Amino acid sequence: MRLDLAGKAVLVTGAASGIGLACARAFLAEGARVGMVDRGTVIPPGGDTIAVRADVTDERELGDAVTAVAREFGGLDVVVGCAGISGPVGTPLAETTAEDFSSVLAVNVTGQFLLVKLARPWLPRGTGAVVLLASDSAFTCAPGMVPYCASKGAVVALTRALAVELDGVRVNCVCPSVTDTPMARADLGEVLAKAEFPVQTADDVAQHVLYLASARSRTVNGQAVLADFGVSARSGFPA
Ligand SMILES: NC(=O)c1ccc[n+]([C@@H]2O[C@H](COP(=O)([O-])OP(=O)(O)OC[C@H]3O[C@@H](n4cnc5c(N)ncnc54)[C@H](O)[C@@H]3O)[C@@H](O)[C@H]2O)c1
Repeated sequence: MRLDLAGKAVLVTGAASGIGLACARAFLAEGARVGMVDRGTVIPPGGDTIAVRADVTDERELGDAVTAVAREFGGLDVVVGCAGISGPVGTPLAETTAEDFSSVLAVNVTGQFLLVKLARPWLPRGTGAVVLLASDSAFTCAPGMVPYCASKGAVVALTRALAVELDGVRVNCVCPSVTDTPMARADLGEVLAKAEFPVQTADDVAQHVLYLASARSRTVNGQAVLADFGVSARSGFPA
């Protein structure tokens, strides 16, 4: 499929690692220019990139980063929100604090809200596209991850709200199941290494992001693309 992303100006948050880094590489491979934003150190993979350090929860810092990338590229065509944290994993509700809850929502939800709010003035009406990373955890939950699951459900609703709010800029989200990244390795350790469940790669996720960023998906808006090998399609009916 021809994606026609060559020369497009793309901003990716969470671009230092995992899915964000895979997205940056995939856009670069298509000939796009990529602004890589992260609170950690970004090692640019080569190509037409600019790396800017910013915390997505800090409106001023993120605003400066968005402006720096947009000025460098003369505007933005695509914005991809990958920055995210998992918060408590395997933690019972009784041991989950309000601070845990609000810190996960601050990055995973407020960070995405701020990103779109700040990038909107640079995105062209008619062709601009935003792709946010949600998760299959918005739909199917594992115990012990209440803040993360709540945050990803909120990203799906945020996607719809932004799609109707933004005139002429499409907003969609991708909801992958477990993906082999530093985040998943830190959370699951040996369980991931010896996984008896399907695990996808960050490159798999990046391909969905590219499609949703491209004009090939111009009729798709406000949607959550659930990429989970069909796991959530299975009924509990014993057959
Ligand atoms: N790995 C999975 O199994 C999986 C599955 C579904 C969805 N996701 C989502 O995909 C996104 C990327 O996750 P990943 O697995 O690549 O994780 P990762 O930890 O490998 O990468 C996340 C990146 O986000 C950055 N980041 C975190 N908080 C930030 C902040 N406040 N400001 C700026 N940057 C910040 C980190 O520095 C890191 O570089 C996340 O939103 C995650 O929830 C991951």
